[in-house]
Amino acid sequence: MKLIDFGVREDEKKYIQEWSKTNDIEVKIVTDLLTPETVKMAQGYDGIVAYQQLPYDEKIFDTMNEFGIHVLSLRNVGVDNVPFEALKRNNIRLTNVPSYSPEAIAEYSVAGLMALLRNFKHMIRKVDQHDFRWAPDIGRELNQLTVGVAGTGRIGRATIKIYQGFGAKVIAYDKFHNPEIEKQGLYVDDLDTLLKESDVVTLHIPSLGKGHTVINKDTIAEMKDNAIVVNSARGDLINTEELYDAVANGKLYGAVLDVYENEVGVFNTDLSDQEFSDKLLERVIKSNRIILTPHIAFYTTKAVKNMATVSLNSMVSELENGSSENEINLDK
Ligand code: COI
Repeated sequence: MKLIDFGVREDEKKYIQEWSKTNDIEVKIVTDLLTPETVKMAQGYDGIVAYQQLPYDEKIFDTMNEFGIHVLSLRNVGVDNVPFEALKRNNIRLTNVPSYSPEAIAEYSVAGLMALLRNFKHMIRKVDQHDFRWAPDIGRELNQLTVGVAGTGRIGRATIKIYQGFGAKVIAYDKFHNPEIEKQGLYVDDLDTLLKESDVVTLHIPSLGKGHTVINKDTIAEMKDNAIVVNSARGDLINTEELYDAVANGKLYGAVLDVYENEVGVFNTDLSDQEFSDKLLERVIKSNRIILTPHIAFYTTKAVKNMATVSLNSMVSELENGSSENEINLDK
């Protein structure tokens, strides 16, 4: 068996190399993303592993089919950039890594919120300038707040556990009820109720598709004054312009954003020596009440190792048994 792994970052290489040695399976490491051009490098390989935020072009799958490659294993969880129809047309199976570390995302979300509640961003900026005054950055305490968790999958549930440890009141919403969360009586009936009753709304749901936002000017109007939004899920869940306006005009206290609707091509790129063209993102970065990070909630040693190795294990299972526990249902 010969595998090829695309879009590999420096920090992933050692885990892939270790896996290759332990399993005695050749894995060609390619730093380029998977495109209609680069897929040509896969000729002669049995399976393709990849991770990228860039949409996967349909032509990639026509070429895979021509080369007789019928499995694509992703090193991440989100499949919103994969055209399912093109996979089906070419008889290609898809796997992801659904649970590389729910705790990584959960811990990040809580850390971001704590930093916002204690005004770290403004305080650090002030201290950098040798301004050591306290005011106006008086903090708020998590144990006094109601945290509304939207989405009670693995990440949402890991997040709930941490918030409960801090003594916050937790409420939750999900279309599909988890028995454990149900038993605890945390569910409210609908998203509107969650938005209305929460001091903090933290999003742990997949993308709903372009234009289908959960946080926008209409839903913000329903939220409590001084509420906070935390998003480490997908950027397109929020209308960022409308969120920014609500923070700027004082309706919302602030936001923690690890994802952004126009992040592709910007996040995880060094643009420090370039003219910055995204004016909205620039305003967000300047705000002391919006903590913006470049999609790093997942970025821990445990998660990166799991992404690198679980994707390869799924590939082996697909090639040896024709299926794997992480295969995506393309008809859903
Ligand atoms: C995903 O796994 O889909 C993520 O959002 C994390 C990604 C940046 C590796």
